Amino acid sequence: MTDPAIVANGLRKSYGDKVVLDGVDLAVPEGTIFALLGPNGAGKTTAVKILSTLVSPDPASGEIRVGGHDLAADPQAARAAIGVTGQFSAVDGLITGEENMLLMADLHHLSRSEGRRVTAELLERFDLVEAAKKPASTYSGGMKRRLDIAMTLVGGPRIIFLDEPTTGLDPRSRHTMWQIIRELVTGGVTVFLTTQYLEEADRLADRIAVLDGGRIAAEGTAEELKRLIPGGHVRLRFSDPAAYRSAVSALGQVTTDDEALALQIPNDGSQRELRSVLDRLERAGIEADELTVHTPDLDDVFFALTGGAGLPHQSKESVR
Ligand SMILES: Nc1ncnc2c1ncn2[C@@H]1O[C@H](COP(=O)(O)OP(=O)(O)O)[C@@H](O)[C@H]1O
Ligand SMILES: [Mg+2]
Repeated sequence: MTDPAIVANGLRKSYGDKVVLDGVDLAVPEGTIFALLGPNGAGKTTAVKILSTLVSPDPASGEIRVGGHDLAADPQAARAAIGVTGQFSAVDGLITGEENMLLMADLHHLSRSEGRRVTAELLERFDLVEAAKKPASTYSGGMKRRLDIAMTLVGGPRIIFLDEPTTGLDPRSRHTMWQIIRELVTGGVTVFLTTQYLEEADRLADRIAVLDGGRIAAEGTAEELKRLIPGGHVRLRFSDPAAYRSAVSALGQVTTDDEALALQIPNDGSQRELRSVLDRLERAGIEADELTVHTPDLDDVFFALTGGAGLPHQSKESVR
């Protein structure tokens, strides 16, 4: 096991007497996507700014390490490992996309020829070749975000922070951005993203942390989070009516669908509970034709964890 790319212990931040982060613990393994999920004002941007060395945590915070470097002891080394793409972009609208890229290459002390090479490669990769010579102010929202990420990649960061990378984008651009984020990780980069969208976290992230009231209310894979709350069940379907009827009597507490020869039994989807259902079927000598596990979705989880603090509910259609 290598060191996690990002580790925070007891991360705290207050502005005046307003506590924004109240002891946040995080660990993000290298080469994974981590989503910090929370509604507006939850403290997501504050967390990103602290982890990317732009803002200092409160002195009462525990150790924070980014890219293997202690933020307090060696912020420069941590900074060298990371790239940040903000909710409010670093793109300069007055100059062209290409000029923005070359400026970034300059900031990273790349030679002129190396800067040109990296710029051309990234413009190509992010489908910005046609737009390269136009002022960035003429770009669509999606193009600006793509340019922003391309600029972040100029320095070859191992860890990338994306603060609400798809907020305000239309569904198509959101999908493109998801694709881009997945590709970043394929190349070995670690992605720390913030989002207000449950579905985004569900689709992209290896692990999700739910930020609520300055603390992590829950952390895990999407599947683990879904298993935290009741409402999961196993559905068994049969082709043989006799087997179906035997299963209904063998399993007891079930919801039945006689027409479909299907039954549902409450189940949290854990290995232990699944095995207990299978054992009972086996003892009765019954075999189901189909078994599916249904876990509640992240909306259910968020509401259970936070008492419904009001994430914007994307309509499912709008993001397909
Ligand atoms: N520089 C600051 N000074 C005072 N309050 C701040 C500052 N930055 C953020 N806050 C407050 O901290 C809280 C969390 O903000 P933020 O981290 O931007 O949340 P999010 O990104 O989740 O929407 C908000 O109440 C915000 O007003
Ligand atoms: Mg924010």
